[in-house]
Amino acid sequence: MKLFIGEEMEDGTDTYIDASSARSILACGKRGTGKSYTMGDIIEEIHTEGEDVVPLVIDPMGIYWTMAEENDEQRDLVWDWGMSEEAFPVNLLVPGDPDERFDPDVRRELERRGIDINPLLLNPSDMSPDGWCDLFDLNINKPMGIALYRAIRELNDEHEDGAFYLEDIIKKVEMDGDAGERTREALLNRLEMASDWGIFADSYQDIFHTVDEDRINVLDMSVIEPGKYGLRNLVVEVLGKELFRRRQAARRREELDLGIDIPKVWLFIDEAHNFVPSGQSSLAKDTIIRWVKEGRQPGLSIVVASQQPSAIDSDVLSQCDVILCHKITTQEDIKSLNKLSQDYMSGSLKTYVRNIDNTGEAVYVDDEAETVQMVKIRPRKSMHGGGEA
Ligand SMILES: Nc1ncnc2c1ncn2[C@@H]1O[C@H](COP(=O)(O)OP(=O)(O)OP(=O)(O)O)[C@@H](O)[C@H]1O
Ligand SMILES: [Mg+2]
Repeated sequence: MKLFIGEEMEDGTDTYIDASSARSILACGKRGTGKSYTMGDIIEEIHTEGEDVVPLVIDPMGIYWTMAEENDEQRDLVWDWGMSEEAFPVNLLVPGDPDERFDPDVRRELERRGIDINPLLLNPSDMSPDGWCDLFDLNINKPMGIALYRAIRELNDEHEDGAFYLEDIIKKVEMDGDAGERTREALLNRLEMASDWGIFADSYQDIFHTVDEDRINVLDMSVIEPGKYGLRNLVVEVLGKELFRRRQAARRREELDLGIDIPKVWLFIDEAHNFVPSGQSSLAKDTIIRWVKEGRQPGLSIVVASQQPSAIDSDVLSQCDVILCHKITTQEDIKSLNKLSQDYMSGSLKTYVRNIDNTGEAVYVDDEAETVQMVKIRPRKSMHGGGEA
C-alpha cells in the first residue's frame, strides 16, 4: 500500500509513504502549519487504499467528523491537483451515551449528513488492578489502594475468560471484611463517581464490533473535559491496550494461515503531547510507547501530531520512522527534532526545516528508505475541520 501525500517541491514528482508494513509517523509544526490537515490526508489514503485495515482517529478537538463532507472550500485547489472532492463515510464514536453528550439538534444534523454515531464504552475488566488504582490516584501500599487492588485481582481470578462490571467491583468492595469501614466508604464513593462518568459498559463491548472497517472511525474526545480525572487518557489507554492484545492474538492466527479475523489498525492521535507528554506521566503513556515500539509485528501503525515535538516523550519521537515536519521556529522544538538527524541526510534536520516557508509544506523523512524530501502536501478531498471562527 502506498499513501499519496503530495509532491516533491523541486521537481514536482509524486510523493508517497510506503505503508506495505506498519509505520510510526510524526507530524509536527507550529500552530496553523498544516499538521491536522496532513493527518487528514493520511486518513483519506488509508481509507481508500487499505485492505483489512481500520483507521481510528483520537480527536481531542472534535474536528474530524468534517471528513464526511466534501472539500468545497478549496475546490479550485483540489482541481488544480487533478483530484476531485470527496466525502468519506464516518463512524463517530462518542465516549459515553451520545444522547447525553450531544445536543439533540446536533446529533440529528450529524446523522442527516450521513454520519453514524455510536457509543464507545469501556469494559471495566479490560483494566488491570494497577490501572484502576492509577485512575483514582491511589497508592497500592495504602488502605484504599490495597482494597481496590485486591477486589480487581479477585474478580480477574473469578472471571478468567469473562468480563466483570462496575457493579461487581462495588459488590466486592462492600463485602471486603479486611478493609476498614472508612476505607470501604471512601472507595465506594469513588466507584460511584466512576459510574457517573458514564463511560463504563455494563455488558461486554467488543472493540472490533464498535469500530467499522468500512468507515473512518473518529473518537470524539471533545465531549469529555480535558484533565478531568485523566478520562481522555483513560479511554486511550484501555482502547490501545485492548487493540494491541487482540491484534497480537490475531497475528498468531495469520502466521498459521488460519485467516485474518480482525483488521490491522492505524491509530491517529492529534495533539499527541496530551497523551505521551515528555518528562511527565500519563495514564496512556506506557501503552502508546509500547504501540510505537512493538506494534510492527502485530500490524499496528500510528500517526501522532503535535505543535511541540519537545513536549512529546523522547521514546516516541525516536521510534517514529516517518517524520513530516511543517514549519517550526522555537529553538527548543528545533533542538529536539534535530536529535533525530541521521547519517544519510546531507545536512542536519534543522537545515531542511529552515527552508520551509509556507503552510502545507513539510520536510518528509523516511527512516526506512533513508530519504529526506521537501514536499508540498496535497490538498484534502474532504473538508478540513478546525478552522478559526
Ligand atoms: N496542504 C495544504 N494545502 C492547502 N491548505 C492547507 C494545507 N495544509 C494546511 N492548510 C490550511 O492551513 C490551515 C491550518 O492547518 P491545520 O489546521 O492542519 O493546522 P495545524 O498545524 O493542525 O494547527 P494547530 O496547531 O492549530 O492544530 C487549514 O485550515 C488549511 O486551510
Ligand atoms: Mg491541528
